[in-house]
Amino acid sequence: MTTPAAVIVDEAAYAQAVEDAVNASAAYYASGTSALDDETYDRLVRGIAAWEAAHPDQVLPDSPTGKVAGGAVEGDVPHTVAMLSLDNVFSPEEFTAWTASLARRIGHQVERFSVEPKLDGLAIAARYTRGRLTKLITRGDGTAGEDVSHSIGTIEGLPRELTEPVTVEVRGEVLMTTAQFEQANEVRTAHGGQPFANPRNAAAGTLRAKERAYTVPMTFFGYGLLALPDTDTTLAKQLGERAHSDLMAQAAALGVNTTATTAVPGITSETVEEVLARVKEIAAVRAELPFGIDGIVIKADLAADQQAAGAGTRAPRWAIAYKLPAVEKITRLLDVEWNVGRTGIIAPRAVLEPVEIDGSTITYATLHNPADITRRDLRLGDHVMVRRAGDVIPRIEAPVAHLRTGDEQPIIFPEICPRCGASIDTSEQRWRCANGRNCHLVASLSYAAGRDQLDIEGLGATRVIQLVETGLVTDLADLFTLTRDQLLALERMGETSTDNLLAAISAAKAQPLSRVLCALGVRGTGRSMSRRIARHFATMDAIRAADAETMQQVEGIGTEKAPSIVAELAELAPLIDKLAAAGVNMTEPGATPPVPASDAAESGSQTDDAQGGPLTGMTVVVTGTMTGPLEALSRNQMNELIERAGGRSSSSVSKKTSLVVAGEGAGSKRTKAETLGIRLATPDEFAALVANHLN
Ligand code: IVH
Repeated sequence: MTTPAAVIVDEAAYAQAVEDAVNASAAYYASGTSALDDETYDRLVRGIAAWEAAHPDQVLPDSPTGKVAGGAVEGDVPHTVAMLSLDNVFSPEEFTAWTASLARRIGHQVERFSVEPKLDGLAIAARYTRGRLTKLITRGDGTAGEDVSHSIGTIEGLPRELTEPVTVEVRGEVLMTTAQFEQANEVRTAHGGQPFANPRNAAAGTLRAKERAYTVPMTFFGYGLLALPDTDTTLAKQLGERAHSDLMAQAAALGVNTTATTAVPGITSETVEEVLARVKEIAAVRAELPFGIDGIVIKADLAADQQAAGAGTRAPRWAIAYKLPAVEKITRLLDVEWNVGRTGIIAPRAVLEPVEIDGSTITYATLHNPADITRRDLRLGDHVMVRRAGDVIPRIEAPVAHLRTGDEQPIIFPEICPRCGASIDTSEQRWRCANGRNCHLVASLSYAAGRDQLDIEGLGATRVIQLVETGLVTDLADLFTLTRDQLLALERMGETSTDNLLAAISAAKAQPLSRVLCALGVRGTGRSMSRRIARHFATMDAIRAADAETMQQVEGIGTEKAPSIVAELAELAPLIDKLAAAGVNMTEPGATPPVPASDAAESGSQTDDAQGGPLTGMTVVVTGTMTGPLEALSRNQMNELIERAGGRSSSSVSKKTSLVVAGEGAGSKRTKAETLGIRLATPDEFAALVANHLN
């Protein structure tokens, strides 16, 4: 679980690391934003510490290892007792070692531990005078902090008045729950502000902001209760002698919020094993908590143990933070994809520069809906804070606005359904294809009718939508049983267009198997793969009889693709049967089915390329505009022709190319062929060569 420390190789790198850490820390404490995410900052500081351990004479005075995290800001209020930070452990072994060293220090085993979540917010000291909340101070540099008393009244769990008129200081963490964070960003962007990158930044920014036209609530959890100089001496003595768990109960009784109100209340444990079990429990529910935690804090519970352990300048020796893996990282938003779900919901998905979070590489994150993108003011190229907790789908918290360079581009929203081309219903937050649940069917039918598949002229998207909406077509096969009367009954369907469409549908029945297969839209089998499969197996029956191993005999189909193609074809079996029953051709002209493996040894097997055509064994590239007998052929049809004639088509010229068919306007591919000394043919020459295969 421990992330490695940054590796610092020389003094210059050390100085740079110190500077980066100081800048990040200063930015964080001044504005609640940082160019470094937590884990990167931790790694850097540990790298700095490692270098300093090996080069104690070179330690720089402003190194972040030497002081309490954070920097004092001018005008700070002194703390009566320093607000310390915590040392970290990252594994059960490190934790056990810490307990052993603590036992050595105090001369006996720690009697009892208190175990509570490490809340991911900002430390704050709340001073109560005779029961009234009078001052709120941030941690600052630990010895003095900023007066943020203007926030009194906006923090849930920190009442203006305690249940008893006591003078005490409550210490704890101010944070925003997920709901508060979302509300904060909504309000902030509505007022023209930049959204906060994450709940902690939001809490930091909100706490420090003095004059705001609006208030956004935050939440407080207490983790300390201590006397102030004015505290009644009896109470002061009591507070100094009480166990941490008792102080927490006392704080709760005074009306202050503590972790006792959460799903992960502070508990006490007698043994290391019990503590570690609790650490596991808390880690397991982390993702479901309505607030962020970045670890578990374990404290010696008894005041006597704490006093015996004492404190260093940075952290007490009686407490430790058991850090959980970071769940947030900063990365860049590269693109936004729009995916259409089964019900027609059009959902944006962020494509990220890959980033590792807690052991997995994250490349995509959910973006919910277009309004969400607008609300967060996301732009392409933005640095974004990505959060992945547990098994939850990673999400973008917000752009890190201060890292903007000005080169960021707006995210373009689709104007038509990216799958079927219909209009989009934008009346709800979640956009939906106007075809709703039919979107997928419309898209797959339009694809099947396309020029490179069944080539059914007159069956454009509008007509397909009409056929689907009227219920006349529920799958591809239904097209082939449409009647003249059914079509004539449709709006905007005259006799001529009906007859033309029926003729085109009828002609489509005779398309070669490769195109029928392509029309089925099996994932991973586009035009050229469909041709290869069809030429290899020659009949649909042979394709359907193939298992994953046999499927791999087709060039370009490997161990990964083969099973998914086989499985998808099995799923499509009813549709294929229906198509065959409707008279759709299921054979590939010119191809012969492969000899089954058992017979191959006797009769000698053949491969799908070796058809004895004029292009056998040749790789052919077509470039420029085709003329003469080839004029009407699309690129796809040219490729089909090449393959029918025994060759292989390719789109780029290389040393492996055998022939380049260069039509009018051929450019760089022709030049490259000349340079490499590759045989060139005009469209007419090529047409003559493959004359027997032109149909
Ligand atoms: S005890 C003297 N308990 O973590 C002991 N701190 O990384 C100091 N924190 O500065 C704090 N949850 O802001 C304590 N349950 C908890 C905590 C907690 C969060 C924060 C606190 C501290 C920082 C150290």
